[in-house]
Amino acid sequence: MIDLRSDTVTQPTEAMRTAMARAEVGDDVYGDDPSVRALEERVAALFGHEAALFTVTGSLANMLAVRSVVPVGAELLCEAEAHVVRAELGVHAAVGGVTTRTWRHPRGLVDLTAIEELVAPDLGPFLVRTAALSIENTHNFGGGTVQPLDGMRALRRVADERRLALHVDGARIWNAHVATGVPLPVYGALADVMGVCLSKGLGAPVGSLMVGSADTVAEQRVWRKRLGGGWRQAGVLAAAGLHALAHHVDRLVDDHQHARLLADAAAVVATAREQGVLTGAVGSRTLRLVTHLDVDAAAARKAADILAPLVRDSRAAG
Ligand SMILES: Cc1ncc(COP(=O)(O)O)c(C=O)c1O
Repeated sequence: MIDLRSDTVTQPTEAMRTAMARAEVGDDVYGDDPSVRALEERVAALFGHEAALFTVTGSLANMLAVRSVVPVGAELLCEAEAHVVRAELGVHAAVGGVTTRTWRHPRGLVDLTAIEELVAPDLGPFLVRTAALSIENTHNFGGGTVQPLDGMRALRRVADERRLALHVDGARIWNAHVATGVPLPVYGALADVMGVCLSKGLGAPVGSLMVGSADTVAEQRVWRKRLGGGWRQAGVLAAAGLHALAHHVDRLVDDHQHARLLADAAAVVATAREQGVLTGAVGSRTLRLVTHLDVDAAAARKAADILAPLVRDSRAAG
């Protein structure tokens, strides 16, 4: 099977497993795990922020990041297909007490006019106040779209003018960085808080980080523990993340090339599966094909060969 359903399906490489097996570890709740500390320091430095917090999932990293900038009863504005509002199962409301309103963009991008219209000032007891804006880079349900830097800069200006915080869901910010050449600190400087994932295109088995100021991270470290997310010898997982950062960022170029190979091939999931290609249906006429560490050029070409005739047939069938 060639598995194109998601970039979360990758197996750790042998080199990654070796790094995990050799990791120096300690009790992270005591702050004693040198590998976790090294990972947190590395990721904070990569984005030019003061601190980072290692979490089990991207959802938890986003949840902590959002609650750090949106108080209970205030609102977050985001795009209607954003992961925070569609796929985190209501955690921002259920745990964070956060409400959301959304703008809509066909590819998940910033729409400044719509955003400016949505921003609600503090009117005391009359309206929910907007506290933060959130964007996703790259935007998953938008089709893996990269947020153009100009749009992000313009959004930052709106945030500053309206005294709002900016959250970036950077689960796949590494892909945006590799695709555009925009340095990670440039992305980091635009955000007050971020969530970034190691378990997507970077191929680590587990792990994400919330990134922000030292005070914010210290506060959310307490919340991570409160929510049951404190962990002990998590250095075995941090070592996988450190290995991924060292070896799996630049190679995302390959995934992007393979994705281009597949760009014309949207086909019927069941037929593709019979022929050895797993894809994900995300709409009646939309398939999700994700290239990753375990799909090499030969596999991408083979998948394209299998999918292309299916696409032609399905188009011909209307
Ligand atoms: C854009 C985006 N943000 C956040 C997440 C959450 O990550 P996790 O599945 O680790 O909770 C995902 C998961 O696919 C995602 O695509």
